Amino acid sequence: MGRFVLEGGIPLRGTVRISGAKNAVLPILAASLLAGDKCTIKGMPELDDVRTICLVLDALGAQLEKNDSTRVTVHSGALVSCEPPYELVRKMRASFLVMGPLLARMGKAKVSLPGGCAIGTRPVDLHLKGFEALGAKISTGHGTVQAEAKRLKGGRIYLDFPSVGATENIMMAATLAQGETLIENAAEEPEVVDLANFLNAMGARIKGAGTKIVKITGVKDLHGTTYTVIPDRIEAGTYMIAAAITRGDLLLQNVIIEHLKPLIAKLQEMGVKVKDEEEGLRVRMGRRPRAVDVKTLPYPGFPTDMQPQIMALLSLARGTSIIIETVFENRFMHVAELKRMGANIRIEGRSAVVEGVPRLTAAPVRATDLRAGAALILGGLATEGITEVNGIEHVDRGYVALEKKLAAAGARIKRVGTAEGPII
Ligand code: UD1
Repeated sequence: MGRFVLEGGIPLRGTVRISGAKNAVLPILAASLLAGDKCTIKGMPELDDVRTICLVLDALGAQLEKNDSTRVTVHSGALVSCEPPYELVRKMRASFLVMGPLLARMGKAKVSLPGGCAIGTRPVDLHLKGFEALGAKISTGHGTVQAEAKRLKGGRIYLDFPSVGATENIMMAATLAQGETLIENAAEEPEVVDLANFLNAMGARIKGAGTKIVKITGVKDLHGTTYTVIPDRIEAGTYMIAAAITRGDLLLQNVIIEHLKPLIAKLQEMGVKVKDEEEGLRVRMGRRPRAVDVKTLPYPGFPTDMQPQIMALLSLARGTSIIIETVFENRFMHVAELKRMGANIRIEGRSAVVEGVPRLTAAPVRATDLRAGAALILGGLATEGITEVNGIEHVDRGYVALEKKLAAAGARIKRVGTAEGPII
């Protein structure tokens, strides 16, 4: 397995171009199963997770054609299966997002219970509750879930928690249902909005995406389209913290500032300078950050996917910060590794108490999940000496050419023992 070897202590300077959003492109590719003809997706990030969903589509009978490294055409005219292979679904939780489209398009879907990052139990009960409300018959057994319905019927679904995946899966299924569907307490994440925009471009009738109530009026069929995915707000956020933690100065291009507001507010509270300039978003920091308290929440709250990275920054702050994780119950696995680098962090239930230290020290560490890996790399960038981050297969799931983008901004980082692969 590969690792990153990095020598930190260098302020990052330069321009970083942000790639397309992983969490937008995954449901969008799943949604392309709903169209009878070709969908072209542009701005695709070259990531392992994107590779996995492409393999899932291929196994279901879709024809994929890679136009260039960031553009794929999917033709789902003749699907051959409603059962994605277990070995792909187990690799990535987002594979479960093909369930809604398959159910709507083929009247049946059989999917293994998903795998993915080990950051909590992550059930799929809300997805299933939604399919049931649309008239599907659900059965489970041998680690798989089966849903069946000749034609789905519009229904009303209240989500106990605004789950991103459940909102997306139900929204996709409802596009071809008979009649009107209301999803209440829906997730408001920008990626949900991007998916709704894609579906509407295919002929769906969705209103209210980005608010707590999404209304879907079913249509008979959906057609192909060409669509560009939004930039990745978590990748952008990670580079914003890279600028701050190295006391550097980065210009981020291809970002939607609106999507970054919850993070920008916290960074500014810490003393980081963030400026919207003509060429992009400039992030600068010249001193030790101030401690702040952070509570992760569904959008537009502070994103759980930025919690490990901001913890790395807060471990170097002046003062004590409290981080409360409310979205996932087991998302502090990076803490033990940050402590190996000299961070002073105590876990109390769902809270982490971070006593800022003046400096971290280099150590060999292991990424346990995607964003934990990002946090350790950020810690390493701030540390003089050689840091080795192992388990970078997790990082490759969500960051395009991370070491190249960091190196272009002056970081000394190299990948050892593994190579990045092409999307398809
Ligand atoms: C998506 C993102 C992930 C992000 C998360 C929260 C993708 C591909 N991944 O994941 O990066 O961290 O949103 O912003 O977009 N839950 C249930 N029952 C369900 C579904 C979810 O209890 O049926 C719980 C989960 O266990 C978790 C919480 O709801 O505690 C949030 O999960 P959800 O919003 O569904 O996250 P994902 O869609 O899996």
